[in-house]
Amino acid sequence: MGLPFTHLTSTKQLSRSDTDAILRVAQDMEGILKKGGCDLLRGKILGSLFYEPSTRTRLSFESAMQRLGGDIVTADGIQFSSLYKGESIEDTIVVASQYCDIIAMRHPEVGSADRAAAVSLVPFINAGDGPGQHPTQALLDLFTIQKECGKIDGLKVAMVGDLRFGRTVHSLSFLLGLYDKITLVFVSPKELTMPEKVITFCKEKGIAFSEERALDAALTADVLYMTRIQEERFTDHSEYERLKSVYTLKAAHLKGKRTVIMHPLPRVTEIATDVDALPNAAYFRQVRNGVPVRMALLAMLLGKL
Ligand code: NCD
Repeated sequence: MGLPFTHLTSTKQLSRSDTDAILRVAQDMEGILKKGGCDLLRGKILGSLFYEPSTRTRLSFESAMQRLGGDIVTADGIQFSSLYKGESIEDTIVVASQYCDIIAMRHPEVGSADRAAAVSLVPFINAGDGPGQHPTQALLDLFTIQKECGKIDGLKVAMVGDLRFGRTVHSLSFLLGLYDKITLVFVSPKELTMPEKVITFCKEKGIAFSEERALDAALTADVLYMTRIQEERFTDHSEYERLKSVYTLKAAHLKGKRTVIMHPLPRVTEIATDVDALPNAAYFRQVRNGVPVRMALLAMLLGKL
């Protein structure tokens, strides 16, 4: 099956047949997980390099590798790495390539993933490059949408919150653009609107979209994808303080609605905990989907499927 590329840095490099293949393999991986894993990647090592905070992405990559019988070596926190001593990303990646068979890296700079992929001697996966892209999250989001809604074509998907700095919504918009008759609703304060690269993409692809300010605009969608205001990206902290509570989705907003509620997590205050008990609150199921999707990517990029 394989994939027609060695490194995954952006969802823009994926075609519809790539996403179809990844989602199909992810579904098979769910079956393997139910049996407790397999030995497909025995003898292979994942280099897990996280230079920015992470819980889900890192743990699910490491869990995915181990469920496939592989091993991990890990580095986290810039202050504990050679990057802190002034080593370039390129040198770090060439060095890491000597110790492992595949690398997943998270780094605070936009474009760091492309720089890393350009020199990596082994398959490289972007696990988040600052406010840039987060392709593996978008793929697990897509897998979740397919499971929750039974389809992807024809859906209306609302993205709410920090659309400027939230990398997951950038990556997900590009992926949804591969499907038919998608409608996107972008809800944000005017300071945190979707970047031009996504808006231009929607216009070029002829995707129906609208930009809104009020949470109400998202409540009629098939999927409401909530995001956190990204405190760490603000240069002016008072601006963050002013915007941090701009939207809070509450159970009362969702009375009688079947809208599937997603969130890449971590959640701060943007979804009240009274939403958690609703059957359409999908964010904890979404988290679980990270493992089979990352298993699929690891196996496919290592040429095993
Ligand atoms: C997201 C990220 O790191 O971009 N989290 C994740 O990977 N699950 C979203 C966020 O941090 O808000």
